[in-house]
Amino acid sequence: MTNPVLDLLLQRRSVKLLAEPGPTPQQLDTILTAAIRVPDHKGLAPWRFVVFEGDGRERFGAVLADVLAKEDKEASPVRLDTERQRLMGAPVTVAVISRAKDVPGAPEWEQVLSSGAACQNLVIAASALGFGCNWVTRWFAYSPGVCAHLGLSAEERIAGFIHIGTAKERQADRKRPGLGEVVRRY
Ligand SMILES: Cc1cc2nc3c(=O)[nH]c(=O)nc-3n(C[C@H](O)[C@H](O)[C@H](O)COP(=O)(O)O)c2cc1C
Repeated sequence: MTNPVLDLLLQRRSVKLLAEPGPTPQQLDTILTAAIRVPDHKGLAPWRFVVFEGDGRERFGAVLADVLAKEDKEASPVRLDTERQRLMGAPVTVAVISRAKDVPGAPEWEQVLSSGAACQNLVIAASALGFGCNWVTRWFAYSPGVCAHLGLSAEERIAGFIHIGTAKERQADRKRPGLGEVVRRY
């Protein structure tokens, strides 16, 4: 018996080369709605999202290049151009931001884990709609200048930038650990 959810989970791979079309606005709403339907101790919604699409990708690329030029004086013109183009390869990119608060009974660790779950739900939902995805952080998830530009508060951190689009190619699978390496029966 085949099960489409299990098939997706057992075959999912990140897709590096993406192209148009991306999700329609309605599909993106579905993807984001699935992303926030995650376990969330005390119902704190300890995550938020920033969507980059259309012209916003180019504007953000210009910010990446500006910030990199300030944060790394050695960055070459070629590297700065790469950053300018950074989001242009995918029709849509979603930044998932962890916003853990100091709440009794819901440790920060659990709130951060909920953000990871939101990232993966987003990937799975987009994949279920037939899109390819790539969850990355790169340098800019950790850049003070980029975080300030996106309006992150001191408690907030970027869990990932998730590129979404149509897969241009399907990569061969990578090596996965065997269950025996990571599972112990108690
Ligand atoms: C939080 C997080 C951040 C990641 N950041 C990067 C990154 O910056 N660059 C990269 O090449 N892969 C990054 N990855 C790995 C990719 O998302 C991907 O999982 C991996 O390249 C291929 O494995 P897969 O096909 O099983 O997804 C990151 C993964 C996680 C969970």
